[in-house]
Amino acid sequence: MSKQLRIAFIGAGYVNFGGAEGPWDHASRLEKIEGLAIAAIVDLNTSLAEQRLAVRRSGPAGGIYAETEIFADYRQMLDKAKPDAVFIGLPPEAHGVAKPPKDVELVCADAGVHMFIEKPLSAAPPEEVADVADALAKAAENGLIVSVGYMFRYSRAVEKMKEIVAETPGGVRAIVARYNCAYSEINSAVWWDIRRTGGPVVEQATHVCDLARYLAGEADLSTVAAVAIAGGEPAGQLSDIPAGPDGKVIDADVPDEFRIPCATAAVWRFANGAVGSLTHGALLHHKKYLAELEVWSDGLRIVLAEPYDKCRLLVRRPHSEEIETLDFAGDDPYMTEAEVFIQAVRTGDASGIRCTYADAVKTHQLTWAIRRAAEKQ
Ligand SMILES: NC(=O)c1ccc[n+]([C@@H]2O[C@H](COP(=O)([O-])OP(=O)(O)OC[C@H]3O[C@@H](n4cnc5c(N)ncnc54)[C@H](O)[C@@H]3O)[C@@H](O)[C@H]2O)c1
Repeated sequence: MSKQLRIAFIGAGYVNFGGAEGPWDHASRLEKIEGLAIAAIVDLNTSLAEQRLAVRRSGPAGGIYAETEIFADYRQMLDKAKPDAVFIGLPPEAHGVAKPPKDVELVCADAGVHMFIEKPLSAAPPEEVADVADALAKAAENGLIVSVGYMFRYSRAVEKMKEIVAETPGGVRAIVARYNCAYSEINSAVWWDIRRTGGPVVEQATHVCDLARYLAGEADLSTVAAVAIAGGEPAGQLSDIPAGPDGKVIDADVPDEFRIPCATAAVWRFANGAVGSLTHGALLHHKKYLAELEVWSDGLRIVLAEPYDKCRLLVRRPHSEEIETLDFAGDDPYMTEAEVFIQAVRTGDASGIRCTYADAVKTHQLTWAIRRAAEKQ
């Protein structure tokens, strides 16, 4: 049996511990992997961290939390708990740049601590993330493992898409990506202020922009064109925004120019000549998001439908009018990405990691290019 690994969570919120509107919850996946101990949970809101810990200790994998300590400050945590690896699940505004205290990644790298980092890399634009990227590239050469949480890259459906595309002469000709989130129950004030997340294309549609790159290669950023309905426009008014803790609409105090755009449409060309498009909406009610991505090639159309839960591919192949449905509903890409990260940390072999920091920087650049093009209109 290999050495027990000490893992710390930085952020006690939804992505690390579950909740809100989706299947994410890194803690539950780690609980299924042998040989881990949760050394620490860090959150400014230490009472939330305490609650998370209490729930997990009384759960089926309570043993791995037996010695978990709570911290408000990640630097103190690194000094005292000495984890082997961290799962960074912080609001985008709190990390991803070289300036303290948001230099979380640089501090972890200096301490030699491997990192699983949730997307997006930061709320800051790519120019401000560049110093972090340079430092992590050097650290990676010296064995530091870094994985960025674009979990759809680990989806069996996406693997299958890549396989089918590879068999199709000429490869991808067009990508059609759509991401429509259900906004009416998003009760995080951070999410409603684009200064704090980078905006919904940078924070959310980033998943399908990343998949577009994963399937079709690099986007030529000079070709990106986009329009959006800005939050301050009459057409940008939404009827069902939730209330904040004070009873007011949650974005009541956000100046118009920093309110979220409720719809964004973008087009661009890939370096290989294919064309791409994205439509993002924050327009649905209740909880369930709808994300979809289509790949078109010569004779081929593949639709990736409902990748978060009832995942399936609809495939029409060359020289056929039949639409075949391939079902991937039982697949859990969050589990696979966690297993791959832990395996990489154990072995020092990063080759299984499907999104490095440098790769994620390119997705960050694409989403920022879309945001900036839309803001110019
Ligand atoms: N891959 C996915 O499917 C997925 C799903 C959900 C969220 N995310 C991403 O994960 C990140 C976190 O999202 P979330 O929903 O968990 O947010 P959240 O608001 O639920 O949790 C973030 C936590 O970080 C804490 N925090 C803020 N600043 C801090 C600091 N400086 N030090 C310590 N703690 C601090 C907050 O108190 C909060 O509890 C976001 O970037 C989001 O886009 C990814």
